[in-house]
Amino acid sequence: MFHDLTMPPPDKILSLMPIFRNDRRGHKIDLGVGVYRDPSGATPILKCVEEAERRILDAQTTKAYVGPAGDPIYCALMTQLVFGDAAPRDRLCAIQTPGAAGALAILAGLIAMARPGSTIHVPNPTWINHFPILESVGLEVVTYPYFDSSTGLVDFNAAMQYLSAAPRGDVILLHGCCHNPTGADLDLAQWRKMSDIIEGRGLIPFVDIAYQGFGDGLEDDAFAVRLLASMVPEMIVASSCSKNFGIYRERTGTAFVLGSNPQQAEIARAQMVTLARDNYSMPPDHGSAIVRTILEDPTLAAGWRQELEEMRVNIRNIRDQLSAAFRRSTGDDRFAYFRTNKGMFSRLNITPQDAARLREEFAIYVIEDGRINVAGLQIDQIGRFVEAITAIDRG
Ligand code: LMR
Repeated sequence: MFHDLTMPPPDKILSLMPIFRNDRRGHKIDLGVGVYRDPSGATPILKCVEEAERRILDAQTTKAYVGPAGDPIYCALMTQLVFGDAAPRDRLCAIQTPGAAGALAILAGLIAMARPGSTIHVPNPTWINHFPILESVGLEVVTYPYFDSSTGLVDFNAAMQYLSAAPRGDVILLHGCCHNPTGADLDLAQWRKMSDIIEGRGLIPFVDIAYQGFGDGLEDDAFAVRLLASMVPEMIVASSCSKNFGIYRERTGTAFVLGSNPQQAEIARAQMVTLARDNYSMPPDHGSAIVRTILEDPTLAAGWRQELEEMRVNIRNIRDQLSAAFRRSTGDDRFAYFRTNKGMFSRLNITPQDAARLREEFAIYVIEDGRINVAGLQIDQIGRFVEAITAIDRG
């Protein structure tokens, strides 16, 4: 049976992890996978998470199943966190999923079930895993212009021109904040203009929001989701707790659907439950129990907001220093995008060969498309990073 199987191509993000681990050079720098690092280079467990885990262990009396939709209280808390008061609750439904990747898979399955072979327009570039997840259920995935690699910013006019001509009823994938892999986000005025186009053309927004709290703050980062939810009849959202609660390996996400009426939302939820049951049966519970414990307790929730804000401010600080260091080194503003970009990522305008050279010659690990996890850089490494990029730039 397995004779004809061949090796898959390496995952462009995850394949760097073991290579980095096995690299014996003491000065190596990991700017690969999207994991937050504090100024000492560690990815610590948040204090609020440690406290929540203590409480869970003390109070938990059973490991019996919760169910395919996960914990309804977690789902309600996540609905509030992501949507605020932007949409009527009876038109919104949510299920807990194994990470946002699980949410994306469930929602892709729902689209394929509702309208097989639908076209989904994703930004160019986008998170590399969007393609296999969306294509695996038979959706037609096409890209729309989004990023200008010469400026490191959004090519807003090109995106708007494309979407203004997109066929009515198609699905459009948007990054709610902290675009992965570029960190190039729309500003509020641009979101308003794009939402008008989406609503006017009857496009269905599918928002992936995996970094809420890492851009401009917890509430500001939900601006696009909430604006769209207040405007459009139908909408799809995948959200993640991996990054903002720092519970990556606990696989905690949420799939949301905004239906045009309560009955449609109820059907969407029932079908998502069926998809979950048919795929992995039920999501893991521990991560959602952590999130629920934190969000239900005002003191823990306040502590969490503060720890999240510290992470955000640390990333901003690295961004500011990075862009200043590039300015000093190059004498121009070519790298000013590091300051403008939001969240963990920015994308260098380099080739895969350059990325390999950065790894081999300078022990700096970046994704081959040029994506770097800014949070992976410590302040005292900025000088070396800038020198390496300048050397690459010179050829
Ligand atoms: C990333 O983009 O680095 C993270 O979301 C990890 C992943 O699964 O790719």
